[in-house]
Parts: sequence; C-alpha cells; structure tokens
Amino acid sequence: MIQSIDDLRKLAKRRIPRAIFDYADGGSYQERTLRANAADLDALTFRQRVMVDVSSTSLATTVLGTEISMPLAIAPTGLAGLFHADGEILGARAAAAFGIPFCLSTMSICSIEDVRAATNRPFWFQQYLMRDRGFNQALIERAIAAQCSALMLTLDLPLLGERWRDARNGLSIPPRLSLRNAWDVATKPAWAMKVLFGKRRTFGNLVGHIPGAAGLLNLAEWTHSQFDASATWRDVDWVRSRWPGRLILKGVLDAEDARLALAAGADAVVVSNHGGRQLDGAPSTISVLPEVVAAIDGRCEVLFDGGIRSGQDIAKGLALGARAGLIGKSFLFALAAAGEAGVTQALTIMRNELRVTLALTGTPGAAAAGPHMLTDPG
Ligand SMILES: Cc1cc2nc3c(=O)[nH]c(=O)nc-3n(C[C@H](O)[C@H](O)[C@H](O)COP(=O)(O)O)c2cc1C
Repeated sequence: MIQSIDDLRKLAKRRIPRAIFDYADGGSYQERTLRANAADLDALTFRQRVMVDVSSTSLATTVLGTEISMPLAIAPTGLAGLFHADGEILGARAAAAFGIPFCLSTMSICSIEDVRAATNRPFWFQQYLMRDRGFNQALIERAIAAQCSALMLTLDLPLLGERWRDARNGLSIPPRLSLRNAWDVATKPAWAMKVLFGKRRTFGNLVGHIPGAAGLLNLAEWTHSQFDASATWRDVDWVRSRWPGRLILKGVLDAEDARLALAAGADAVVVSNHGGRQLDGAPSTISVLPEVVAAIDGRCEVLFDGGIRSGQDIAKGLALGARAGLIGKSFLFALAAAGEAGVTQALTIMRNELRVTLALTGTPGAAAAGPHMLTDPG
C-alpha cells in the first residue's frame, strides 16, 4: 500500500538498477547537505490552531503569472528517462493533468521536441551555461520554438560536484550491461526491456545537435568538458538578452546572490543547493529561505527545493515565504515506481498532505500561509 513518498522510494529501489537509484538518491561527498535539507525541514514544528473555518481550503496559486492547482512544480532532473521509459514525457503529462509546471532538463533523455510533441501544455526548460555558447543559443531557440513558458538557468554548477556513489557504481550513459551489473539488471527485467533495450537511452537534447556527441558515452566526459567554470553574472545578462520570456534563476543560496539575481533580471529565483549534489557542507535550503525572501523583498518570486518529501514540507516552505516548492527526487522515485501513474500518485499524496496540514494549522488556503503556521519560525 502506497501512502507516502517514502513508500514510492522503496518501490523504486526494487524496480530500477542500483546505479540509477543511487544517482537520484545520493549527494556529493559525505552527503551532509543532502541530509541537512531533510533534517532541517523535519525539525520545524507546526503550530496547531483550532476553531478556524477551514472548510474551503484552496491550494491554487499563481507562479510567474500562471494559475497552478497547488504550489508545487517538478524540478529539472537529468536522465529522468532512465528511471522509466519516456520518463520526461510521462512526467510532463502527469504535471499538466495536475495543473502544475514541469521543468525539462537539458540533460534529459527525451528531447525538448519529444516532450513538446507529446504534451499540450507549455513546460519550462532548464539549461546550464556551456562553454560552447552556440549550443546555449541553439537551446534557447529550440525552447522558443517549443513554446516553453519559462527558461530556468541553473547557476550552481560551474563544475560537477563529486558524487561518490556514481563513481562507485560506474554509471554510464547510455546504460550498459556489464559483468558488474548483470545480476542487478537481471532482477529488473521490466526496466531492462523498456529502458536498457528501449528506443531512448541517451541525452536526447544533445544527440544530433553537437558535433562528436555520439562518441561521448560517459556522463562525466560530457559534463566535465562542457560546464563553464568561467561563467559570471555577465553571462546571465547574455542569456537574459536572448530569452524573451520569463527567466528563473536556480541555485541561489545566499542573500547577496539573491540581490544579484534580481539585478540580472530574474522573474523568479529558486533557493536550491541542487538537492545536496553540489557543495557538500552548504546550508539546507529551508534554513536560508527566510534571508533570501527578505533580500528579494517581494521584487520577484521565490521558489525553493531540496528535501521536499511531503505536502507538509511544502507547507513549511510556504510558511517561510516561498511561493512554491519543486521536487526532484520525489518525482524520480514516483516515476521509477509506477511511471505516469506513480507521478500522479505522488502529486495526489502531496496535495492531500498539504491540504490537511494547512487546515490543521488554521490556514484557510495556500495564499494565507505564513510564519504563523510554525511554532518557531526563527
Ligand atoms: C537525479 C537528479 C538529477 C538532477 N539533474 C538536474 C539538472 O539536470 N538540472 C538542474 O538544474 N538540476 C538538476 N537536479 C537538481 C534538481 O533540479 C533539484 O534542485 C533537486 O533535486 C531538489 O532536491 P530534492 O531532490 O531533494 O527534491 C537534479 C537532481 C536529481 C536528484
């Protein structure tokens, strides 16, 4: 019986190979920041309030001027199509049916064009600054052609954080059958049939678009060669001047950077430490959310991610000033567990948890969320 995101995580672990599960489940180095994201959310306690009319608690809100059914979006995650065949398409469809945004990663398995063709609701597109700016430019043009409703530029990856689990497991793109993983893969026949021997198994946005991509079999090889460690705020201006739509800057974890993001023309910032996958030892997102909200001071929208495993976690972010949360791992586990139905189930679980939590804190809807919901908002 699936009651929580943790149940979906357990199911995902049984259904996909270890290397793929660990790619999502793990963080960088000793995974301190990964753990802190969840632990600091857990440590916040709600203030129970009674005898408030909460009979019509509405979760609807807006993000970047668009109405959404609850304050949640699906974060960009690379390789989602390895967790389930056509993973990005299924995720985008589940999000669209639910009325929340889906953000496609540049490092996806299904391409922008694949997702556009398979869905009828605009999605967001995420990119990194690459050393080959021509590739960034081409991606922007492809996102415009696909009518993406926002561009998310991820700032916290000048180079790839070192993730011990991935190194240990020898994760390769596309996934390969080897002596080392043969038993593991043999015990996941449904995954092997659909993904390992399926149609889409590698970086859909890159194949056919960058010279030499076909020869790049290894994730580290691609990332190490292309992430631009020299990028600065001037390069954000470069993106801003080329992207005519809404711009979301992701990876802000500091009040000073929040002000710089605002000056660079952000329509929204995402308070994020990449789910604990980049700078290990950085603070949890929920602990710095209030200082970023204060620095932004209502001049653009503040979203947050990192450690959200329940509607209660979303409620805590809202209480501390976020407009909405984003989910990475919770999405991937749900996708691996049961495809589109799994993602819909995860969103349903979170919606119910959020509704009940708002009601029991005496908060008559997402729009009314605030620090009054917590015993010690800090
Ligand atoms: C497997 C995986 C792949 C990710 N790939 C990307 C990516 O391609 N681009 C990006 O901006 N963030 C990426 N992220 C970070 C997420 O967008 C998000 O910031 C993070 O997952 C939030 O934390 P959570 O996983 O605890 O929900 C990835 C996260 C995971 C778990």
